[in-house]
Amino acid sequence: MTAAAKLLTLPFIINNYALIQTYRRCVPQKRQPWNRKPHVTASTPTRTDSARTPLAAEYRQQGTSAADWQRRSLAAVWHPCTQMQRAQAVPPLPIASGEGPWLKDFDGRRYFDAISSWWTNLFGHSDARIRAAIADQLGLLPHVMLAGCTHAPAVELAERLSALTGGVLGHVFYASDGASAVEIALKMSFHSWRNRGRPAKREFVCVRQGYHGETLGALAVTDVEVFRDAYAPLLMQAHMVASPDARQAHAGEDAGGPARRAADELRALLATRGENIAAVIVEPLVQCAGGMAMHDPGYLLAVRQLCDAFEVHLIADEIAVGCGRTGSFFAFEQAGPSSGAHAQVWPDFICLSKGITGGTLPLSLVLSRDEIYASFLDDDVARGFLHSHSYTGNPLACRAALAVLDHFADDDVIAANRDRAAALTTALGPLARDARIAHFRQRGMIWAFDVREEVLPDRFAERFHLAGRARELLIRPIGRTVYLMPPYLFDAADAAWLAERTVDTLDHVLRGSPAPDADRSPEPQTA
Ligand SMILES: Cc1ncc(COP(=O)(O)O)c(C=O)c1O
Repeated sequence: MTAAAKLLTLPFIINNYALIQTYRRCVPQKRQPWNRKPHVTASTPTRTDSARTPLAAEYRQQGTSAADWQRRSLAAVWHPCTQMQRAQAVPPLPIASGEGPWLKDFDGRRYFDAISSWWTNLFGHSDARIRAAIADQLGLLPHVMLAGCTHAPAVELAERLSALTGGVLGHVFYASDGASAVEIALKMSFHSWRNRGRPAKREFVCVRQGYHGETLGALAVTDVEVFRDAYAPLLMQAHMVASPDARQAHAGEDAGGPARRAADELRALLATRGENIAAVIVEPLVQCAGGMAMHDPGYLLAVRQLCDAFEVHLIADEIAVGCGRTGSFFAFEQAGPSSGAHAQVWPDFICLSKGITGGTLPLSLVLSRDEIYASFLDDDVARGFLHSHSYTGNPLACRAALAVLDHFADDDVIAANRDRAAALTTALGPLARDARIAHFRQRGMIWAFDVREEVLPDRFAERFHLAGRARELLIRPIGRTVYLMPPYLFDAADAAWLAERTVDTLDHVLRGSPAPDADRSPEPQTA
């Protein structure tokens, strides 16, 4: 059977499968091989003594210590982004509960979550409004598949997100993790061009130091060696162009210099390969995982104009920088004027995840422009976007996201964050003038600085993380870049505390390091 024929039979296969399922539910079934229980006996070994998961209060009563959880975790859990051999020496921090910006371990110690649990948390742990929304939805409809069915939370969330783009990006496609959203945007871009009679447009452009996730497609447009190199033989080839990273400014230049040079390099590539390129993917304003590299917003406008000129899609990966993190709900809003004679410039796709559920449930999504959506409409099934995941558009996660949007709508979060950002920037002021560090930078609710090579001790990131823990801080530097990305709920006193503990941690870790070059003046802030 050809691939096209297989696709044409797909709806019938699905319908027949549904009929068989219905029949099996209605008619008492003999024990068929497929409905026999797996063979379990009293002697079947289990990994723990208790047969069921205890409730929260019972966990507390059991009094299992942090050390016990560490030991059991290392024996059973394969942790992400971790060399498990090293984890024996530096075991994971067992967290029992969270409230506001604080996480608590099993021994009652607390930690300020200064990195919002991998940038997911917006309004603190266990936020009452998000919790109530999830609990309400749990009693109504925890899940239903989104192929052939729909539900209110998925519809309302799509409508409200689209409205935030002024209706320019009119449809939302759901998934669960950030990397899946990137895969979807890449596939959609290629397939849309193919449907429009341009199958040669099958190449992608990404930016040096960029990070888009770790599934194979997302990794192919990622430029972080430690994640990418082992899998390089498996990855499609993508074009990599210069980063607009403001730290690359020449003496006497501002952030506009590297942005212009990066845009020039992109222009040269599109001029030669544009016919074969489907999309350019960027992280607007801040390349986070690549080291919190910040750039001039003018770069985004330049990329938009180049993509228009060379008929190439623009994918804005706002998985880390969306949801208010950079000072506007979408980072791309800062690319150009939002009112007046010029219409707001928008990308063709926006990927969101992380903060969209306020750090509660996995949800990701891709917003796309109407003309892209329209390019998939056809009598031919194969011209549709047939991508799917089982938990696509999960109602609980969509309700959490709606509660997040309610926070933004009701609490003037963006304006309140401006005050918070000013307070923390002021409190961190001494760091900006510290000779041991370079490129103190800030954008919205992200702060970062680089520790100079000459004062850097061995295993700096790990030492800083551990010294931070001892000072009630949860921070994980990226190499020699220390960054803060706290939840949106601290006041001026918290900001002063956070800054003081960050400096204290740095002082501790750099104690004994060689003194920085006395003649060296502190570097200018870079973004
Ligand atoms: C910009 C960006 N894109 C994609 C991803 C991947 O998201 P996930 O880890 O949920 O797959 C990340 C994760 O940090 C990210 O920062």
